[in-house]
Amino acid sequence: MNLRNIAKKHEAFLGDKIQVYFTPGRVNLIGEHIDYEGGRVFPIAINLGTYAFVSKRQDSEFHFLSDNYMEFGTKIIKYNNLRSSIRKTNIISSEKSEKQENRKSSHFSSFLEDENFDREYNSPSNSIYDLNFYNADGWVNFPKGIIKYFLQAGADIPSGLNILIYGNLPKASGLSSSASLEVLISLVLKYEYSINTDLSEIANICKYVENKYMNVNCGIMDQFAVAMSKENHALYLDTSSLAYDYIPLYTGDYSFIITNTNKSRSLADSKYNERVEQCNTAKILINKNIKKLDYICDLSLEDFYDNLSIFNDKIIANRVEHIITENDRTKQAVLALKQKDMIKFGDLMNKSHDSLRYLYEVSCNELDTLVNSFRRHGAIGSRMTGAGFGGCTISLVKTSHIDEIITKVKSDYLKEIGYNASFYPVKACDGAKKLESEDIL
Ligand code: GLA
Repeated sequence: MNLRNIAKKHEAFLGDKIQVYFTPGRVNLIGEHIDYEGGRVFPIAINLGTYAFVSKRQDSEFHFLSDNYMEFGTKIIKYNNLRSSIRKTNIISSEKSEKQENRKSSHFSSFLEDENFDREYNSPSNSIYDLNFYNADGWVNFPKGIIKYFLQAGADIPSGLNILIYGNLPKASGLSSSASLEVLISLVLKYEYSINTDLSEIANICKYVENKYMNVNCGIMDQFAVAMSKENHALYLDTSSLAYDYIPLYTGDYSFIITNTNKSRSLADSKYNERVEQCNTAKILINKNIKKLDYICDLSLEDFYDNLSIFNDKIIANRVEHIITENDRTKQAVLALKQKDMIKFGDLMNKSHDSLRYLYEVSCNELDTLVNSFRRHGAIGSRMTGAGFGGCTISLVKTSHIDEIITKVKSDYLKEIGYNASFYPVKACDGAKKLESEDIL
């Protein structure tokens, strides 16, 4: 794929003076289904992702076109530049004074916590300025949601843009194509309008849009990883404080490999929100009977086992056990990587999968088939990654045996499931960035 050719192909849509932006997808090495319960996660950004080719417009319209969904055509969004009217205080500001810079984070958090915020963008349904969610708008809902919340936050968007999207992440594969698109559009707005915000704030806005606009109660992992990752490193993120560290991805004689079940699913129609609900039920029980806490990860394993009887529902107890043990596994895995102990790392991956399969119940036959086959053919670790219910696995295999293992797993999967899995080598990449002209050549 050549970026210049894509720009050329869409010359009529884009015109000249094009800027190009890229955001990766992500794969999580360990720490699954704990980012909405204050847990520690350990993702990396991958070298597949989403590109935006952008040119300026003179009017108040955004024109969207996707090279991947040409049949969907060009979608036009008209908007009101709300800057002066909607908020006296600027939450996101294009003024770069030191004072603003210092005030930024507190203002920004107040926007995320303001319950009335969602009602402030005055766009009567079905008017030409309507930035609300509609199923019929398909993928364009993501950019619409981002633009809506940037406008509400006080971003000054004096004129519109033409935005052509091209992505090479496999669709609905659990490699965060949604987060990649959300962060991408935010990055475009940041640069095109000189908005004074940074990538960690952008991750927060994107999570907010996913929760409030797309109605998926996800945690912060995907948006943060897509925005903030670093080449050749994994991102160790504490989702309760957003403290993070970059850990060199030394894997010795072993390599990670991503395998796509090619069983697609979307979080909106999976049981993802149901799991989040079950965690809320568990927290009510814990708060009433053990101690007051914000997140399940604040409960120690000891306190959990000592108080097992408060969970009269075995399913709820299982969910809690997964979350607390997975959080601990992530800590151990980071230590193992630092100590270059890949056998230990692989063992923790295996335990993580088994816990997701039996306690959290987010695996499925396709994922288990891949994991079992990888383990049978010599992987030292193999697990589902991401939300589950389909999507991808990540496995740790001897680099010298990769081709042989892939051939065997491929054949097992086809025999058992009836269609092919796809395999992707893993390279840890940088997060979101504006591309320079030499990157585009
Ligand atoms: C999805 C969500 C994340 C996280 C993972 C599971 O990718 O978007 O926030 O919860 O599932 O770890």
